[in-house]
Amino acid sequence: MGHRVLCVDNDEARVKTLRDGGVPIFEDHLPELLAKHRGKGVDFTTDLGSAVEASEAVFIAVGTPQGDTGAADLSYVEAVVSGIARHINGYKVIVEKSTVPVYTNEWISRVLHRHGVDAQHFDVVSNPEFLREGTAIIDFLHPDRIVVGAGNERSADLLRRIYQPLVEGSYYNQPGALPGACSASRPAKLLVTSAQSSEIIKHASNAFLALKISFINAVGNLAEAVDADIEDIAAGMGLDRRIGPGFLRAGLGYGGSCFPKDVAAFHWVAQQRGVNFELLQEIRKINETQKDIFFNKVLSALWTLRGKRLAALGLAFKGDTDDIRDSPAIDIIKRLLEAGATIAAYDPAAIERAKATIPPSAKLRYAEDIYDAAKDADAVLILTDWKEFAEIDLARLNAAVRFPIVIDGRNLYKPQQMLDHGFTYVSVGRPASYLAQQGKPRSLAL
Ligand code: UDX
Repeated sequence: MGHRVLCVDNDEARVKTLRDGGVPIFEDHLPELLAKHRGKGVDFTTDLGSAVEASEAVFIAVGTPQGDTGAADLSYVEAVVSGIARHINGYKVIVEKSTVPVYTNEWISRVLHRHGVDAQHFDVVSNPEFLREGTAIIDFLHPDRIVVGAGNERSADLLRRIYQPLVEGSYYNQPGALPGACSASRPAKLLVTSAQSSEIIKHASNAFLALKISFINAVGNLAEAVDADIEDIAAGMGLDRRIGPGFLRAGLGYGGSCFPKDVAAFHWVAQQRGVNFELLQEIRKINETQKDIFFNKVLSALWTLRGKRLAALGLAFKGDTDDIRDSPAIDIIKRLLEAGATIAAYDPAAIERAKATIPPSAKLRYAEDIYDAAKDADAVLILTDWKEFAEIDLARLNAAVRFPIVIDGRNLYKPQQMLDHGFTYVSVGRPASYLAQQGKPRSLAL
């Protein structure tokens, strides 16, 4: 977009990796973009002071992990603000990008004042990000909206200038611009609000998306109880423009570094203000129960688990990422290991990260590919919605397994397709389809 960006981190190893041409996270388009701009507009340093002194806008994008009470732990934000305070050498806008509770912007201003920074020399602006892992670059360049929570026009104007290529659309005509939903004739929208509203927009948006997922999962459980099909139900609901089709995929529930933490933090914010928002607790409970329900599906398909050999397809919390933080797949694998099963796990990207959390053992092997994981398995479990898992060569899978049973926590197949390939197929929010010799569907047996 033509800006000069200095990226600061206190993790020397990370900065070195980035300087040397490495990319420490798995993110589409990031390697090419860094290769193009590294040293020519984008630089990496551990020197916060000189980066702050050289900049008009300082974006804070540190972690805000979940503390014991559910509240976000803001100590990294505070530490970095103290660091920034010492190097303010003229008017600067401090832009808060981490997901934070309402009034964090206010606190940042107070911390700057306490460090003796003159109010003339800074403004604090909330500019939450709505990026999904795996598609973060496209989400950034083609946003549904850019939200700027600013207390005055001066700081709002700087943010407008920063995002101008996206908001006025010139970026989309640039040679090499990445394609997506926005274009020069339909550029990104920028919404200016108060800081508090902007902070709430972020929490409320994530909580609402989590609500959609928990809602469809609860409906899925009902669908299963009455022999309806959650995929048809979600399609039928999603066609209503007021509801929309996104985030209505039933499955193992949501995970990752955002939804679980943000739903808890938003609930904490409501509690602090004496506002009853128990719906948020319910969203979380449904999400937790979803994993119990899946575990019970595995149990009822296999009867006992001790000594059973299971193929686990998926470790990441969703497809297209190597992130395993709060991954439902990891949770399920741990429970199955505790119950005495032996597991061969495969994931296209997350194996290295998973090894650090659940190291290989006599009970857990990390496989080379899908078919290696499925070798002699008593059942194949699909735990992450990788595209690769939706395109399995089912004949080859059937030849690899000991028993043709697929338990799909992400509904990647049509039950009939699995039956046609000789599999008993158990999924989420749909009646299980059993091979004839293995008994009738539960509903018919009743
Ligand atoms: C999310 C928000 O989408 C993003 O706006 C915010 O900035 C960060 O948090 P992310 O955590 O990368 O992004 O993942 P997302 O694609 O939203 O999925 C979150 C979880 O929900 C995953 O575990 C995914 O498998 C699950 N999910 C998503 C469903 O179970 N069903 C769905 O229909 C959609």
